[in-house]
Formats: sequence, C-alpha cells, structure tokens
Amino acid sequence: MTTDSRTFHLGPHSVRRIGYGAMQLAGPGVFGPPADRGAALSVLREAVARGVDHIDTSDVYGPHVTNQLIREALHPYPDGLVVATKVGMVRGPTGSWDPAFSAAELERQVHENLTNLGKDVLDLVYFRASFGATGPAEGSIEAPLTALAELRRRGLLRSIGLSNVTRAQIDEGRSVTEIVAVQNHYNLVHRDDDTLVDALASDGIAYVPYFPLGGFTPIQSRVLDEVAERVGATPMQVALAWLLRRSPNVLLIPGTSSVAHLVENLASDSTSLDARDVERLNLLSSVA
Ligand SMILES: NC(=O)c1ccc[n+]([C@@H]2O[C@H](COP(=O)([O-])OP(=O)(O)OC[C@H]3O[C@@H](n4cnc5c(N)ncnc54)[C@H](OP(=O)(O)O)[C@@H]3O)[C@@H](O)[C@H]2O)c1
Repeated sequence: MTTDSRTFHLGPHSVRRIGYGAMQLAGPGVFGPPADRGAALSVLREAVARGVDHIDTSDVYGPHVTNQLIREALHPYPDGLVVATKVGMVRGPTGSWDPAFSAAELERQVHENLTNLGKDVLDLVYFRASFGATGPAEGSIEAPLTALAELRRRGLLRSIGLSNVTRAQIDEGRSVTEIVAVQNHYNLVHRDDDTLVDALASDGIAYVPYFPLGGFTPIQSRVLDEVAERVGATPMQVALAWLLRRSPNVLLIPGTSSVAHLVENLASDSTSLDARDVERLNLLSSVA
C-alpha cells in the first residue's frame, strides 16, 4: 500500500521515501568516534527537523558510536520516527566486520541496540547476512530468522527485514516470518537487483538500497553531470531522483556527515527527470 508517491510503508509505519543513513557519522572506516561530534549531532537533528522519519543505523557502526549519537541527538524520539537497525555482525578489535548470528549473539546484539539507542522496542531489525565476502551469497538463514522471530514474539522488536541477501534467502526468510524490507547494495551503476526490486514491489515489500550514491566513493560520470546540468540539480540529486523514480517501494537512506549534503539529498524529490534522461542514465549500469 503506497499512501502517496512520497511515502511507502515499512511494516506498520508509513515513512517518507527519503530517509537518512547514519553510517557516515562514525569515524574513518566506520570505526571509532567522529572527528567532530557536534557536527554529527547537528546532522541528525537537522534531518529530523527537516522531516526525516526513517533513520538507518547499526550497532556495528563505531561500534556503538552511531547509535549513541542518535540517542544523544534525538532521544526522546519524536512519534513516527522509525530507527531501523541491523544485526548479524560484530566488529573485531581492529575494525574487522565479523559474522555473528547464533541465537545468543543475535539476542545480545538486539539488547545492545536497545541500550545504545535508548529504546524499549526496536522498530525494525534487519538480519544482515554475511555468507559472501563481497555481496550476497547463498546459505541458510532459517536459524537466525527463527531467533529474531522469537525476539519479536518476546516484544523486543516490531518488524524484521533482510540485508545483503539473495532471492532464495528472501523466500526462505518469508517462510519463517514476515519480512517488511530488504536492504541490498543498489544504485544507478550497480543494478544486480533489478529483477528483485520489481518482484518486491509486486509483493508490497520495501526495497532500501544501501550505497545509493555509490558508498565511500560516490558515483562519478559525465552523463550524470550532463543530466544534472540539464535539470538544474546536482549529480547526487539526480542519482537519488533516478532511484525514487525506479520503483515506488524504493526507500532512500543516503548517508552523509554534512548538513549541506543532507539538505541537498532531501531536496532530490524535486528533481524531475524525463524519459530521455532516464534512458541515458540507465545505460550507465552497462558501462560501469
Ligand atoms: N546493509 C549493509 O550492509 C549496508 C552497507 C553499507 C551502508 N549501509 C547503510 O546505507 C546507508 C547509505 O550508505 P553510505 O552512507 O555508505 O553510502 P552513500 O549514501 O551511497 O554515500 C555516502 C557518501 O556520499 C557522500 N555524499 C552524501 N551526500 C552527498 C552529496 N549531496 N554530495 C556529495 N557527496 C555526498 C558522503 O560524503 P559526506 O559525508 O562528505 O557527505 C559519503 O562519502 C548507510 O548510512 C548505512 O545506513 C548498509
């Protein structure tokens, strides 16, 4: 159910299609504190002041740093703000991202998220699969999903999503419990999930692309620059506008540590692309 073109549902919540991804607020390598804590808090407060009602985070960012910043900046949380988090990994002492998804590890991570965010119940928890080194890879998710469903039954979380998963894992996950969102790597030049985006749209499930701007190295392209100039927007606004236009179930979580970039990203729904722009931008995935 889409209430209008600017919102989509995340479980029981209707959220604006442009949200905010908090990963960039931690220190370099998403490890340790940010250089400027005050600036990080300002980005979060400005996001909510400008109507953001969907923030994506994880206790692995920092670790714990990003969630603690969110709590400091925004607690007590305004009604309607969905803070989505991810479990299934932990950080090693030098910053490695280590799979951790036994039932006991997931329960501990859920409790750590609750504590660091200062919440009684988590709004949305993604199980972040880590069977492959560089992207989704097959492997059964039945056991971790069963564990998360049990934590939901106990009232610790409201909704469950999946991240970094294959179509087969989504089907397996949906046979265990309700899945309200899928968060995978997807953007203008990384379109492995094209078929999946459409399939999830048909099933009314939100698709939340991570790295919507290209991640640590934002997308650069002459075509993107040319389209941006034609429509009077910035290249990053065009990249986000392309995603908004891609499918109504796409919810954006662009990440930034800068208020200026935040403001720019939130305005990307005013960028209007015509069919010819989209045709040109679509070709970028085949040359990337
Ligand atoms: N599930 C997963 O495995 C997974 C993995 C990665 C990320 N995520 C989630 O996805 C969210 C988004 O991903 P991301 O933050 O890594 O990547 P992203 O949103 O694709 O891009 C972030 C990068 O773009 C820059 N940027 C942002 N807005 C800009 C603008 N208007 N102009 C120029 N540069 C701009 C940022 O630098 P500045 O700080 O200088 O603006 C940063 O370097 C994360 O915050 C996280 O919540 C999930």
